[in-house]
Amino acid sequence: MTRRGGEPQRRQAVTTGMPIFVSRRRFAAAALALLLTPTVATAAALDGRAIAQGQERGNCLACHRMPADPLAMTDATLGPALQDVRKRYPDRSQLRAQIWDAAARNPETLMPRYGRHRILTDAEIDAVTDYVFGL
Ligand code: HEC
Repeated sequence: MTRRGGEPQRRQAVTTGMPIFVSRRRFAAAALALLLTPTVATAAALDGRAIAQGQERGNCLACHRMPADPLAMTDATLGPALQDVRKRYPDRSQLRAQIWDAAARNPETLMPRYGRHRILTDAEIDAVTDYVFGL
């Protein structure tokens, strides 16, 4: 008795529900792959932590402590400690904007204008932003 009642329902699911589900998933996967390809390549090529902590160009540790990162050894207090960053900047693009041009928010800032003054490339700023976003 359950077989007779159950089968049409299952067939219906296969003929109507499934193809739509599969094609939506395929579409989403393809769109995601397209969107993520450049980001993944960038993240693989650039190490945001190394750029941020290295003294060559990022040198964030000259002014900021990063208490969550045991490798970030500094007592610097010129800038605020970079911690709970995601709480302060739920929107990643605002964090990126701060790093790209700190003077946009505070014209008197001591923080270098990493993007506007081409100290770091856009890809390097993206990598640093990803790193800092996780602190
Ligand atoms: C010469 C000192 C200096 C350097 C180097 C520096 N900053 Fe800053 N930063 C500051 C100061 C000072 C502030 C406080 C806000 C202001 O005055 O603009 C600040 C603010 C910030 C903020 C906002 C923090 C908050 O809580 O609002 C972020 C994020 C930030 N810096 C990230 C970085 C990153 C990432 C680097 C390295 C790529 C860096 N800073 C390098 C001085 C510096």
